Amino acid sequence: MDAEKLGRSRFLNLFFKPAGATMESRLRQWLFDPRETLRGADIKSGQTVLEVGCGTGFFTLHAAEIIGPSGHLIAMDPLSDFVDRVKKKVQDAGLKNVEVVRRDALKTELETASVDLVLLFGVVPYPTLPLDRLLPEMHRVLKADGTLAVWLFPVSFGVPTAILRSGLFTKPGKKNGVYTYRRSESRDHSQPKS
Ligand SMILES: C[S@@+](CC[C@H](N)C(=O)[O-])C[C@H]1O[C@@H](n2cnc3c(N)ncnc32)[C@H](O)[C@@H]1O
Repeated sequence: MDAEKLGRSRFLNLFFKPAGATMESRLRQWLFDPRETLRGADIKSGQTVLEVGCGTGFFTLHAAEIIGPSGHLIAMDPLSDFVDRVKKKVQDAGLKNVEVVRRDALKTELETASVDLVLLFGVVPYPTLPLDRLLPEMHRVLKADGTLAVWLFPVSFGVPTAILRSGLFTKPGKKNGVYTYRRSESRDHSQPKS
């Protein structure tokens, strides 16, 4: 779906928009160290990283700091409020390695095999990101040895099993609460039609 339409969806506006304050609350920062979670994703300096559903940017600036000036972070969200907020944070921090885009992650418009690491942090399972469409798109944009990192909140709803069952990802691991998978070479997966 185009981001304009998705950004107007009832689900996103009723459910996620009001949650923005919680996403970046001091209590969350105090209870939860985003860098610990990012370390669980095995994020490294110089990587190209796609952050799906960046929200208000709880993980974004930390991820940008870890990948450094030689890395490239694409922070993606369909809600213009969130995109504007993250753009401002990035600008205020003087970061040049972050691109904040208003887009539907089911149709990233990114080049095939261009990303080292995909972060799915707090974004699945949600109705606007169905795994049967999201996983093929993430498989397409990841490089051959790319990693899918998934942090599930509040509950997993069988996501780890569904990811393996898709046949698109393999070699499961878990660190600091983050599930990681290697992109599987076993299936050449073309993007499904929307
Ligand atoms: C629960 S929030 C998590 C935000 C952030 N990752 C965090 O942990 O603070 C889920 C985010 O996913 C975004 N989202 C929902 N559907 C999406 C889609 N199809 N493509 C990209 N992002 C989407 C929402 O707008 C929202 O910002």
